[in-house]
Amino acid sequence: MLQDRNIILIGFMGTGKTTIGEQLAKRLSLAFIDTDEKICSISGLTIPEIFQQKGEKYFRQLESQVLTDVLAQASQVVSTGGGIVIQEVNRQLLNARRQKGDLVIWLTASEETLWQRLKLDSNRPLLKAANPREEIASLLRQREDLYRSVADYTISTSEREPAAVVTEIIDIYFKGGF
Ligand code: S3P
Repeated sequence: MLQDRNIILIGFMGTGKTTIGEQLAKRLSLAFIDTDEKICSISGLTIPEIFQQKGEKYFRQLESQVLTDVLAQASQVVSTGGGIVIQEVNRQLLNARRQKGDLVIWLTASEETLWQRLKLDSNRPLLKAANPREEIASLLRQREDLYRSVADYTISTSEREPAAVVTEIIDIYFKGGF
């Protein structure tokens, strides 16, 4: 059944995955799960604390475990962390779920939009670099092909209200024939 399927949002930090995911879940009466939120509740730490105290490797292990557990369930909107596509095991899992009917949406935004949305943010440890703007550009270059390799649809969120993006995803969900 259509409603059994998950809608999984992937994309870079600052593309609106959580905001859009929450609104989408509400409009479709589906459960909403945010993998970062689950990681924080399991570890009892914030994302910056995890990176600082346990390191990125620990975060990535937990992220993979959470993704596996979450995608064992159906009828959810799942918002993922921007680095979910880094690990091959996660990409394989996402592709396996697509085969079973889940819909993976890649949310994008221009580099300038991302910079404007992220420049004052202190919750993204990966951007605590000497030149965060260059870090965004570099991570985008490293990840673009990875996002593309697991996405059914790509939607830009630059200069768009979240509600408009939500409506576009709902149209795909009901009419896309995925
Ligand atoms: C990360 C993105 C973050 C969070 C962590 C690592 C990344 O999630 O998972 O800081 O590697 O891009 P958001 O995309 O929700 O910011």
